[in-house]
Formats: sequence, structure tokens, C-alpha cells
Amino acid sequence: MGLPWIGETMEFYKAQRTNKLFEEFVQPRIHKYGKIFKTWLMGSPTVVVNGPDTNRFFLSNEFKLSVQLMGNDSIMEKQGEQHWCLRGIIASSSFSCAGHEGMMPKICDSCLLGINVEPQMLGIFERVLEGVFAPPIRVPGSKFSRAKKAREEIERVLIDVVREKKEEERENKPHDTTSFAIAMTFRMLAHHPNCFSLLLQEHADILSNKRAGEYLTMEDTKKMKYTWQVVRESIRLFPPIFGSFRKAISDIEYEGFIIPKGWKVLWTTYATHYNEDYFPDHMAFDPSRFEEPIQPYVFLPFGGGPRMCAGYQLAKLNILIFVHFVVTHYNWSHQYLDEPITMDPLPFPSHGMPINIYRKKL
Ligand code: HEM
Repeated sequence: MGLPWIGETMEFYKAQRTNKLFEEFVQPRIHKYGKIFKTWLMGSPTVVVNGPDTNRFFLSNEFKLSVQLMGNDSIMEKQGEQHWCLRGIIASSSFSCAGHEGMMPKICDSCLLGINVEPQMLGIFERVLEGVFAPPIRVPGSKFSRAKKAREEIERVLIDVVREKKEEERENKPHDTTSFAIAMTFRMLAHHPNCFSLLLQEHADILSNKRAGEYLTMEDTKKMKYTWQVVRESIRLFPPIFGSFRKAISDIEYEGFIIPKGWKVLWTTYATHYNEDYFPDHMAFDPSRFEEPIQPYVFLPFGGGPRMCAGYQLAKLNILIFVHFVVTHYNWSHQYLDEPITMDPLPFPSHGMPINIYRKKL
């Protein structure tokens, strides 16, 4: 279990930071000790559990384990009725189909940068355009001067938008997971042109049945079957959340082991996502493996059991709609196709995944 109190925390963080938690931390210990092993992380004795049956036991055993680390008022800390009540509030906007149908125009409108274009902004853009073709004379009131001023205004608006978005990101962690899932989907599409062609065809077919400017509907998103397979395969290989901790609130007996009250339990996606028994040739990118249903508690990017992600449906919609708009309107190329993924604590492409993007000529 390593040094007193610190235990194996340093090894854990080192492996996590370089996104090699499975290869460098979990897998060597599974080989040495078996699929359930104990360690000492961040000051707590911790049991790391792996495999579908173990996942099922620990993810559904609400009464003996409590979720940790997110602050007392967070949904993650609530139990029983309070938990269900909070979930209900999130799920009413996030899970129900009626809620989603109503949200489709909003998601479609804010799909790219999420910038709401106010009417006065169009006026500012027009002033800039007028200046582009005017003689460069900087006297008050000239078209060129007005354009220069308008350009500065645009810069201010964009700085505010970026600041707001950064603020939102800081406060609203769930969206980091969605954007990482999107980023990994585009990365895998860039690596696999055949998959991209199939996906593009799916979206071209949907678009061909729409009038110009018509919003997507829930029915359209149901037709994005291959796209969802691509997304699932991308987040199987690059899960936005690698797993999470629980705390035993009483002694737990499992397969002859006793996990004492107060110990932590860590479940991870890796031990099943990267396991040949469940995903043959597991490092290969193969969206077709999701044509068949996957055994429960094997594919866990959204967790499982009563604490499965409450934003699952919303995240799915956001991802599908975003992919639709990008592939139907833009061509793009990655500046660094194989940039490493770092974790701090959520995964992120280390260069920020810069891309060159061009509007398609429709
Ligand atoms: C691709 C995007 C997302 C991924 C991969 C993801 C993943 C997860 C995972 C793995 C859990 C379970 C954590 C655990 O068992 O300890 C979780 C829980 C949760 N997620 Fe997400 N999430 C995503 C998007 C979202 C969004 C958009 C929202 C907001 C609407 C959201 C809200 C929540 C909430 C409230 C919980 C706690 C549920 C509970 O304790 O009952 N998630 N998510």
C-alpha cells in the first residue's frame, strides 16, 4: 500500500496526468493482486474494483456506499429521497423526450460558439464591411474610421463572449465532459476516413430531407445511429470520466473480502473498456461493435446504477447536434493529429486541439 498516509498517491497522480492510469497504475496491480486490490490514495485506504459484476455490485449498492468529494450540497453527496428529488429536477429537463423536443431549437441555435447574435451586432458587422471597400482615410465620420471603431467593438464583444464561456466552463463542469467527448469523436473521425464517410452520409441523408433553415427534430437525432456508435467508440477509448470514488458507510462484504467502514472504493471504466473479453482487439477503433447491445456494467462512460449520469440524454443530444452541424457545414483539419491527452483532473488534449476550419461551399 506504499508509504504511510501518502501511500501510492504520487504513482496514481503521475499515471493520471499522462492519461495512463490503466496501463501504469491499474493494470500492473490487477496482474499482481487480482481484479480487486487495495491501495492508499490521498490519505484514505482505498479498494480499486474492476469488472462488470464488481461494477454492478458497487455502483448499485446505494445504501452501503456514499459518493464523495463534491461538497455537501452537491447531488453527489445526497442519499435516498433527497438524491431522487434532485435527480428528478435535473432529469425533468434532461431525460424527458417532451423536454428535449422543446430544447432542440435552442441547442441548434447555440450549437457552435453558443453566441447569440443580437440585431445590433449585425449593424456593427455591416459597418466593418463598408470600411473594407472604403478608402483608408482616418477622419472622423469617414467610412474607414467608422469601420475601425466597429472592429474594436466586435473585439470587445468577442472578448466578453470568451470570458463568459470560460466562466461557464469553470462553474459548469459537466460541459467539459461533453466537449471532451466531442473532441475525441472528431479526433477519431480524422484518423478513420472510412468511418467519417459513413457518418457524413448519415448526415447528408438527414439534411436532404430538410428545408433551408429548418431545425433538427428528435426524429432526426434517432436516425443518427452510426454517429452515436462512433461517439460511443470514441468515449470507450477516451472516457471523459475515468471512474469515481465511493465511501463505505458500513462494513461491506464482497466475494469473501471485508471492506471496512470509512474505506474508499474506486471503480474505473478502463478495466472493462480495455478488456479483450468484452471488446476484442480493444485498442482498435471499431464503431460497428456497438451494433449489438453491450453487456450491462461493461461500457460505463456515463456510470451506472442509481447514480448514472443525470445529463446523459442532454449530453447525447448536444453531441449529435454538434456533429451534425459541423460535418454538414464545415471541412476541418487537425494541427496535431496525435497530440497527447493530459488529465487535470479531467482529460484534455495537451495543445488544446487546434484545428483549421473552413465553411463548405453548399
Ligand atoms: C459526455 C458527457 C458526460 C459524461 C461522460 C458524464 C459522465 C458522468 C458519470 C460517469 C457520472 C457518474 C459519476 C459517479 O458514479 O460517481 C455522472 C454523473 C452525473 N452527471 Fe454526467 N456526464 C456527462 C454530461 C453531463 C451533463 C451535460 C450533465 C448536466 C445536465 C451531467 C450531470 C450529471 C449529474 C447531475 C450527475 C450525478 C448523478 C447522481 O449522482 O445521481 N452530466 N456523469
